[in-house]
Amino acid sequence: MPAKLGIIGVGHFAGFLVEGFRNRYRDLEIVLSPRGEEMSARLSADFNCRVAGHNQTVVDQCDLVIISVRPNSFEDVVGALKFREDQTVVSVVSGIMHSTIKKFVAPAKGVRALAISSAAINQSPTYLYPDDFGCRDFLQALGPIHVMDNEEQFTVAAAYTALYGWCFKLLDEGADWGAANGLEKDQAITLMREVLSGVAGMADHDADISMEKVVESLATKGGITELGLNVLEENDGFEAWHNALDAVHERLKGSS
Ligand SMILES: NC(=O)c1ccc[n+]([C@@H]2O[C@H](COP(=O)([O-])OP(=O)(O)OC[C@H]3O[C@@H](n4cnc5c(N)ncnc54)[C@H](OP(=O)(O)O)[C@@H]3O)[C@@H](O)[C@H]2O)c1
Repeated sequence: MPAKLGIIGVGHFAGFLVEGFRNRYRDLEIVLSPRGEEMSARLSADFNCRVAGHNQTVVDQCDLVIISVRPNSFEDVVGALKFREDQTVVSVVSGIMHSTIKKFVAPAKGVRALAISSAAINQSPTYLYPDDFGCRDFLQALGPIHVMDNEEQFTVAAAYTALYGWCFKLLDEGADWGAANGLEKDQAITLMREVLSGVAGMADHDADISMEKVVESLATKGGITELGLNVLEENDGFEAWHNALDAVHERLKGSS
C-alpha cells in the first residue's frame, strides 16, 4: 500500500475508486486534486480524503498518483506536472497509450489500469499493463486483477468496460418491457437484477463448461429460450453487440 495516494481528476470514476479503496484501506491517506469541487467535497466528507490546493501539491505529497481526467485533458493536465523518480503514476484514462503515459510522467514509472464502477463495492475486474508488483498488490483491493501481456490485449479488455454499461441498459430495457406488460417498474427492475445476478453466479459455477454448451442446455428444442434466441438472430441482435464492441475497440486503438 502506498504511504499516500493522490488522485488528479476527481469526477465520477474517481468517486468509485475512492469508495473502493477506503473500504479496504482504512488508514490510507488520500489526497485529491481541487477540480471537480462538488465531488471532492463529497469524497472528503464521506471517505476522509484531503483536497489539495493545486494538482502539483497532490504530486509532491504522494508516492502513488492516479490520473483520472478525461482523455482530451490528459496531455494538458499531466504535461503541466513534475514527477519524481520514486513515484508511480497509474493512468485510468481510456485510450491513452502506455508510451504516452511514460513520456508524460518521466522520471516516474507509468502504468495503465482500467476498472468499472463496481470498484466501489470491491468487485471490479481491474486490468493492468504493464505488470507492476506494487500496483498489482494495491489495486487488488478493487477486485480481481488481470495483468495483460501486451497493450493490444489491454485495449480489447478495455472494451468490456463499455459493455458493462450496456448491461445496465439491458436491465432497464427488460424492466421497461415488464412495466409495459403489467409489472410495477420497481418490481420489474428487481426481477431483471436477479436474473442478471443469476447469470453471473451460474457462469462462475459452470466456469469449466463452455458457454456454448450452457446455452445449448438452456435452449431446449421448441422452448421459449430457443424461440427468443431465434428472434434475436433474425434481427441481427448479436451482430449489433459485436458491432458496438468493434466501434469501441476502434476508438480505444485510435488515440495516441
Ligand atoms: N466513468 C467510468 O465508469 C470510467 C470507467 C473507466 C475509466 N474511466 C476513465 O476515467 C476518466 C475520468 O472519467 P469520469 O467519468 O470520471 O469523467 P468526469 O466525471 O468528467 O471526471 C473528470 C474530472 O477531471 C477534472 N478535471 C478537468 N480538468 C482538470 C484539471 N486541469 N486538473 C484536475 N482535474 C481536472 C474534472 O473537473 P471539472 O468537473 O471541474 O471539469 C472532473 O472532475 C476518463 O479518462 C475515463 O476514460 C471512467
